[in-house]
Amino acid sequence: MKAKQLVVVLAVFLAAVCLLLGGTLRHPQQGFQGLDARRLATQTFSHRSLAVSGARTHSQIKPTPLPNVSFDPGGRDSLVFIHIQKTGGSDFLRHLVTVERDHHPLCLPESAASSTPIKRKKERSLCPRPGTAESATRPRDWWPWLISEKTLGWYCGLHPFYSEYKSCIALENSLPERNRKFDPTANFHYSTMLRHPVVRYISEYLHIQRGATFSYRHICNGKKVRNSEMPPCYPGYYDRETWHNVTLSAFLSCESNWANNRQTFSVADLETVHCFNQKALPRGEREQRLLESAKQNLMRFSFFGITEYQAESAALFEKTFGLKFGQGLEQKPVGSLNSAPMLNSVWNTESAYSRIAAANHLDMQLYNFALELFAARLLAIGIEIDLDSITKEVQLLPSDGDAFKRKRFQKQLRG
Ligand SMILES: *[C@@H]1O[C@H](CO)[C@@H](O)[C@H](O)[C@H]1NC(C)=O
Ligand SMILES: *[C@@H]1O[C@H](CO)[C@@H](O)[C@H](O)[C@H]1NC(C)=O
Repeated sequence: MKAKQLVVVLAVFLAAVCLLLGGTLRHPQQGFQGLDARRLATQTFSHRSLAVSGARTHSQIKPTPLPNVSFDPGGRDSLVFIHIQKTGGSDFLRHLVTVERDHHPLCLPESAASSTPIKRKKERSLCPRPGTAESATRPRDWWPWLISEKTLGWYCGLHPFYSEYKSCIALENSLPERNRKFDPTANFHYSTMLRHPVVRYISEYLHIQRGATFSYRHICNGKKVRNSEMPPCYPGYYDRETWHNVTLSAFLSCESNWANNRQTFSVADLETVHCFNQKALPRGEREQRLLESAKQNLMRFSFFGITEYQAESAALFEKTFGLKFGQGLEQKPVGSLNSAPMLNSVWNTESAYSRIAAANHLDMQLYNFALELFAARLLAIGIEIDLDSITKEVQLLPSDGDAFKRKRFQKQLRG
């Protein structure tokens, strides 16, 4: 019995090694131009535990200095937080508005600032530049150092991406001062959170399936994105109709789904690929430029964190900006997420994992890159992380049971 088990284990191990070697040999590090999505799906992502960190081990990662940031919220510095849907951005922002410098909080809950002339909805915070007189009555005295929905609402669009913020800042600059909501001439520092693309995608899928929408006409290069460039995935998208009960298969089948590679276009310079005009460049070139631009921008951003590493992201943030969170970030166990049962199914269903990874192949590569840079920056401040923690956590989820759920899910995947 024991010997038999050993043989099975060995066989599985050998098969995995062959698969890996095969994948590496057939697919050297030459970029992805010319590879179609299906080949990517079967080669790059065939082995789930390597999908994220590639063949890199921690010993190959060298400490990398943090961006050289000197952040003065009392001066001309402003922090833009690019909140990519389903990356834990709301949580991050909730903690971000508790930051302190030298034990002084830098934001106030709105209720604490009764003298402000700015009327806002609940749950917002005011983050005026320190030193602003409490009795200040001019709107500009309340211009925030933090640019995000927490301080401005969706002033620059719904979950604006980097390019959209740039358009928004330019537009603000053209307004008379009394109409401005923030200082468009500030020194802007960009920041964001990234998440494992398969986990993020599932979270967005479940959100849409529950009947929520992110329907919004995005702006790029000062112009609205047209239907011909990103055809809506279902009728009524712009009229606030929902995609209630959509199957994963239908969700994945929509090529112009905004969920696909959302993290890449949220941080790239979209102008360099003619925004969403898919015809302006051959697809391979367009995608390569997008990914390259996203990587370059990430390196230039003052900060990015990774949802799978909350405490480490907070530590990096504090170190970079010289600020302290008043309330620390906590890691939610994967098992506590709404999406846990589905994550478990996807991780255990090769075809499902590969299809999601293929639909997000730019995000997968961007995440790989970001994770390694993140780990390298953490090493510079003496923190080591396990690059495969998400896969390990998902695989530890109890798969007991839910044969019923699994079946239902597989039916769903077939559409
Ligand atoms: C960091 O920036 C400051 C001020 O901008 C500059 O004086 C300093 O030389 C920079 N340090 C490095 C290592 O680039
Ligand atoms: C979605 O499915 C649920 C459960 O099958 C059903 O009760 C609900 O009416 C459906 N919603 C829509 C909008 O189709």
